[in-house]
Amino acid sequence: MRCEFPKDFLWGAATAAYQIEGGFDRDGKGESIWDCFVRKPGRIKNSDTGDVACDHYRLWEDDLNLLQELGANAYRFSVSWPRIFPEGYGRPNQKGIDFYRRLVEGLRQRGITPMLTLYHWDLPQALQEKGGWLNRDVVYYFRDYAGLMFEVLKKEVPLWVTHNEPFVASFFGYGTGENAPGVRGLKTIFQSAHHFLLSHGEAVKVFREVMGEEKAQIGLVNFLWRHEPASQKTRDIKAAQRAEGFISRWYLQPIITGSYPSDIWDWIKKRLATPKMEPEDLATIAQPIDFLGVNYYSRNLYKANPFNPITGFTQVKKGPLPQTEMGWEVYPEGLFQLLVELDEKYHIPLYITENGAAYNDQLVDGRIIDTKRADYLKQHILQAHQAIQAGVDLRGYFYWSLLDNFEWAHGFSKRFGLFYVDYRTQRRYWKESARAYQRILQANTLMTGEG
Ligand code: GCO
Repeated sequence: MRCEFPKDFLWGAATAAYQIEGGFDRDGKGESIWDCFVRKPGRIKNSDTGDVACDHYRLWEDDLNLLQELGANAYRFSVSWPRIFPEGYGRPNQKGIDFYRRLVEGLRQRGITPMLTLYHWDLPQALQEKGGWLNRDVVYYFRDYAGLMFEVLKKEVPLWVTHNEPFVASFFGYGTGENAPGVRGLKTIFQSAHHFLLSHGEAVKVFREVMGEEKAQIGLVNFLWRHEPASQKTRDIKAAQRAEGFISRWYLQPIITGSYPSDIWDWIKKRLATPKMEPEDLATIAQPIDFLGVNYYSRNLYKANPFNPITGFTQVKKGPLPQTEMGWEVYPEGLFQLLVELDEKYHIPLYITENGAAYNDQLVDGRIIDTKRADYLKQHILQAHQAIQAGVDLRGYFYWSLLDNFEWAHGFSKRFGLFYVDYRTQRRYWKESARAYQRILQANTLMTGEG
């Protein structure tokens, strides 16, 4: 079957500054919360750090060439805030600005559309020392950082993302402590989440002022998996709905309708703490945006757990479906369901800003035969095509990730890339999945039933 995509559909790959750049202290860059966090014993597998990562700060032209050979017409990357403002605000670091100006120029010379994410979790450590995302001042430091980037790249970057996955950044950064800055607490989760969303709205306001007549567009990227009950018992169905509220609706509803989900608000009011806010905050958060970014990987299964006083549910560890190296079920139909649901509920253009799989890749005689990843890719792209056929305004697909890279607390132990990175030599190798993706991109068509 020939699944042809719309002629202007964007095909690319996604990365994030801290996960690939390295050059952690190069050319005036300030320390980020991840530069600090990775040095805390026991936080990162094998004590890996992003000090060098994929050395993309040095090898960026080679990596743009890989994107071009792949046939990508788009690339999603993020800017390291402390490269621009080493202390988070004040005098900008021209060498940091110049790096991203060269990167964007290099993309455009190769006919590749840049999608720039302003925040993919690397807050300047100097701001964390002022309380980080628990301090409302950081909202305005973010707005000013965003404003500078808009001014610098307003003619070169057509697609802008304020935040990547505010759920993950707040829940794991200011809740479980598993991610930087490693703040552990319950009342802190929703306060940091509120400031992430408020800073998104403040940045969108500045975007509209700076962009004027430019055709640039702005959105936010959310962590949007499927959340399903482990059984058809009413209590498990309710548990899954609550999980979906905590994880998805809390970060979707405010930015589009200007209200927090009342079921979750009432739940956390009794058990945790609702965020402190100003009367005009929700109107600011709900600044109209041009698209939603969807990071989809899999689903979680839940069952009710009355003994969990915080959430009232437990996540089932192992579902019945085949799993990736992350223990995530391969659940492509969940992508179709999600896209249709978002389209019906929010009527907003969508990009799949991340979708991918980690597998235990083996480099043998210069080749990586990653059949499972190629299958994962094709199955999810097929679901994306079916969503378009069902009328969803889906405008692009970015595979996560271009390169194997620093997978946060997992260090370099998990490989998601289309290109294998030998971290000793920094050599990149095509995986079979990259060849499969290349065939799709070159034809703008997925052929199902092919080997
Ligand atoms: C995320 C982040 C990426 C991850 C990827 C694989 O979605 O958690 O955006 O930085 O590396 O999703 O876990």
